[in-house]
Amino acid sequence: MTNSVALASWLILVLSFVMAISTTRVEAARAFFVFGDSLVDNGNNNYLATTARADSPPYGIDTPSRRPTGRFSNGKNIPDFISDALGSEPTLPYLSPELQGNRLLVGANFASAGIGILNDTGIQFINIIRMYRQLEYFQEYQSRLADLVGTDEAQRIVSEALVLITVGGNDFVNNYYVVPISARSRQFSLPDYVKYLISEYRKILMRLYEVGARKVLVTGTGPLGCVPAELAMRSTNGECAAELQRAAGLYNPQLVQMIKGLNSELGANVFIAANTQKQTNDFISNPGAYGFTTSKIACCGQGPYNGLGLCTVASNLCPNRDVYAFWDPFHPSERANGIITDMILNGSPSYMSPMNLSSLLALDTATRT
Ligand SMILES: *[C@@H]1O[C@H](CO)[C@@H](O)[C@H](O)[C@H]1NC(C)=O
Ligand SMILES: *[C@@H]1O[C@H](CO)[C@@H](O)[C@H](O)[C@H]1NC(C)=O
Repeated sequence: MTNSVALASWLILVLSFVMAISTTRVEAARAFFVFGDSLVDNGNNNYLATTARADSPPYGIDTPSRRPTGRFSNGKNIPDFISDALGSEPTLPYLSPELQGNRLLVGANFASAGIGILNDTGIQFINIIRMYRQLEYFQEYQSRLADLVGTDEAQRIVSEALVLITVGGNDFVNNYYVVPISARSRQFSLPDYVKYLISEYRKILMRLYEVGARKVLVTGTGPLGCVPAELAMRSTNGECAAELQRAAGLYNPQLVQMIKGLNSELGANVFIAANTQKQTNDFISNPGAYGFTTSKIACCGQGPYNGLGLCTVASNLCPNRDVYAFWDPFHPSERANGIITDMILNGSPSYMSPMNLSSLLALDTATRT
């Protein structure tokens, strides 16, 4: 009897100690803000009248609830894996009614499937949150945060936060190349279009800096021509679609250069660039090395490579999502997202410039008092 009481109080002591540690950790965890397109949308489009959505089965089939969340994945997406690395809960979509009170301290996700760098990208999806609007919401968020913790504390939280921005792929697939002869492709040659995109993206990143972001992870586009959708629509025998590969090949190095220029202008490594094209290329050229049986066929879809149309309950669905690099015609599987995030965290300078995310976060912790 006494023994079990002693054991019980010992357990309570240990438990409260563990809880104290984990509470401290939650409070100390860095806030996380996410901007961009469907690769990083955590469900904002669920709240909008748009066709760009992932809120019906089998999306989310590998989440604990097995229910769709609005993420374009069978399970976690890249922001979720980054939240894990930060020791935080996943970010809530900014439009979620649950984003209230202390949950604001975790950060917020402003991303919206279908958007691009340009306002005219994704017009076919009608009601989506374009970049300028995501940045307006970020300012609105900051005033809500200031109401909660005060202006100085809100500013500190934002300046120490990690920011992820993933945008640009749609400016090719849902703009320049959307119809045989799009307005943008009549206006610009591909090299000139890429230059224009980079100069508009630079303005967006500058704006992000002006509204308080100081640790920004910028991802490039993947190998656009190799996704199952493009293999189905533009490839004759399974080779990556040349024109889109050329677009990604022009865009990604210029993005890295632009970021280098921004950092030197600002006199600090505010931005780090992830070479997601190289990262994804690795497992597209050698899927077996990463435990994938295919990087050409989507797990969920129909037609050649399961690359046509949308992923719905009526689509083909693979039994084991972990052996597919692509979940649907455009988006990586949960396992691929995890591999990409590992490269972002720990990759060498050929993947991450000027440094990887672990180094960026460690550097910052060292200067925090
Ligand atoms: C996009 O639209 C917003 C709102 O109309 C405008 O302020 C912004 O300048 C536009 N951006 C570009 C690149 O045209
Ligand atoms: C990237 O991150 C790891 C920490 O996980 C670090 O040890 C390593 O040196 C970094 N790699 C490079 C090449 O910067």
